[in-house]
Amino acid sequence: MNRILVTSALIYANGPLHIGHLAGAYLPADIYTKYNRLKGNDIIHICGTDEHGIPVTIKAEQLGISPKDIVDKYHKEIYKDFENLHIDFDNFSRTSSPLHHKMAKEFFLKIHKKGLIEKKEGQQLYCPKCERFLADRYIEGECPYCHSENARGDQCEVCGKWIEPTQLINARCKICGTIPKIKKTYHWYFLLDKMQNQLEDWIESKKTWKSNVKSFAKGWFKEGLKSRAITRDMKWGVPVPLDDAKGKVLYVWFDAPIGYISSTIEWANEIGKPELWKEYWFGKDTKLIHFIGKDNIVFHAIVWPAMLLGYNNEIIMPSEIPANEFLNIESRKISTSRNWAIWVKDFLDVFPADFLRYYLAANLPENSDMDFKWKEFQAKINGELADILGNLVNRTYVFINRYFDGLVPEPDTFDNTDNKLIQSINNASEDIGSLFEKFHIRQATFQLMNLAREGNKYFDFKKPWVLIKEDKRKCATTLYLLTNLINTISTLFTPIIPEGMKKIKNALEQENNSWDNASKLNIKPRTRFNNPGILYKKIDDKIIRREEERLMNNSNIEKEIKNNIEMTKDDYVTIEDIHKLGLKVAEIVNAERVNETDKLVKLFIRIGKEDRQIIAGIAKHYNIEELIGKKIIIVSNMKPAKIRGIESKGMLLAASDTNTMSLLTVDRDISSGVEIKC
Ligand code: 2FM
Ligand code: ZN
Repeated sequence: MNRILVTSALIYANGPLHIGHLAGAYLPADIYTKYNRLKGNDIIHICGTDEHGIPVTIKAEQLGISPKDIVDKYHKEIYKDFENLHIDFDNFSRTSSPLHHKMAKEFFLKIHKKGLIEKKEGQQLYCPKCERFLADRYIEGECPYCHSENARGDQCEVCGKWIEPTQLINARCKICGTIPKIKKTYHWYFLLDKMQNQLEDWIESKKTWKSNVKSFAKGWFKEGLKSRAITRDMKWGVPVPLDDAKGKVLYVWFDAPIGYISSTIEWANEIGKPELWKEYWFGKDTKLIHFIGKDNIVFHAIVWPAMLLGYNNEIIMPSEIPANEFLNIESRKISTSRNWAIWVKDFLDVFPADFLRYYLAANLPENSDMDFKWKEFQAKINGELADILGNLVNRTYVFINRYFDGLVPEPDTFDNTDNKLIQSINNASEDIGSLFEKFHIRQATFQLMNLAREGNKYFDFKKPWVLIKEDKRKCATTLYLLTNLINTISTLFTPIIPEGMKKIKNALEQENNSWDNASKLNIKPRTRFNNPGILYKKIDDKIIRREEERLMNNSNIEKEIKNNIEMTKDDYVTIEDIHKLGLKVAEIVNAERVNETDKLVKLFIRIGKEDRQIIAGIAKHYNIEELIGKKIIIVSNMKPAKIRGIESKGMLLAASDTNTMSLLTVDRDISSGVEIKC
């Protein structure tokens, strides 16, 4: 039997749980674990709260309470939210526990002893006003890599790079805004540079890993791993266990992943088998799977594996790191500081857990960022959970209740249509299981709903309401198979929507079948089909409007939008102003990079019969090959200019935010040279 150790990222205990957290790590980890339990695999799901580091101390300072009070509060609240969502952990620990402190110190000392941690003098930013060294999130500035604003002193949220604070451009103290000074100090550095070859070989051997994780790691290797400070001048955290390290604690990203181990130890202690954790962490056949969001990739694919390699040769390495991208809300990035978020607690005050689990599972950001939209959520719940799945269950129950005294009837012989449905039931466990194995949860959700769709089609095709009068035995076969399909669905959908599926099991007085058995016709004739009640109640327009308003009203974004509207009122333009711009469609016939710049591209464009050349700052966002043949929009009457000594006649239009640049193009094939009119 497989032994599987699933972890989901230890969550910062500095605020409540929101839906972005769920889509990144926790829901996929829970679904995967529930699936494996039904498979009968030996699996544990380990998690906890990440209670050190600056995310916690900053929050404590903002609220004027101690870090300890903050983590106590949020540890409880977060755990409650998970429970209400049926996200189950075998253990949900805390990194402030004495057991974790002990384990983290032991880890540090072992790696130190191996010569992979070294004390070095270095420079650090110091705020003269706050009179302290500024670590990590106490500093903000421009990212030296992607140049986005508000990058933090340890990581840029936009490009995900791990940053040394002194690299930040225009750094300032996050608390008081003062420009910090550079002061000499000493810290302990993890010599990642010494481990590059070993890590590179290891990642290279991972053939099934998602491309986002592999390419991220490769990018790091290409730049060359550098040694990194893994201690901080702070009081809150795990004290560095060396005599000459007074006042220093471990960097939160050094201690947090060790929490996966200490939480497993705590679990083993709690179930009264204190040695059992070792089977998981040292058993060569354990599959260690870390579910994370994309901002955690560098730490799980590089730093943590390096720590494990440095710890000893016996401990296992991660087998899979299924990292998800981000979930946005109504096309905007989630921002807890601007309150652009949907909090799990608020959500569950209004809707059942299955609604969120289903909608997120169907929209997990597995390959690219995804969007939560309230109207789409309503459409998905009403159109699928209620109208497809709920309806299938309800109409089957009602029919059996009315015409067969509430008992599943005895089937007769099966015709082709029946056999096709039986085939779908028989294939379902394996087909859907193989998707879960590959972490393709979105696809699995889609296929499961398709099974219910197929059930409704079968119902409509068979017309039991006609058969009951014309051929009662055929009618009985239809209802018998429909009940079996519903039973199969109720097992296989359990990892995603456990509440509703439990109602079905109760109505049929069944326990869950094992995953592999679920593809059989398990419901015997004369089984009672009790009233399951309304499985999924539809969501009213009114409720969705209220939620949309709540999101807007609670956030600061509404004010920003209002400000924008105010600003533009005085600044209206007329149609003549637009026509003055000379906007035209142009075709890019050739392109080349401008030497010695990393931004500029020379574009040879055709506007009707006229050929021109323009210079554009798009090299970081487009490859030359993808530009050629594009039809773009240009300002054709732009005053000619010389850029780097090269003539540019016209300007192209593009939209860009901190992540992406997109050229404005035409969405149908239209001749170049055409003027843009309104
Ligand atoms: O990004 C975060 O929320 C971190 N607290 C994740 C830590 S994961 C692990 F290493 F513990
Ligand atoms: Zn960046």
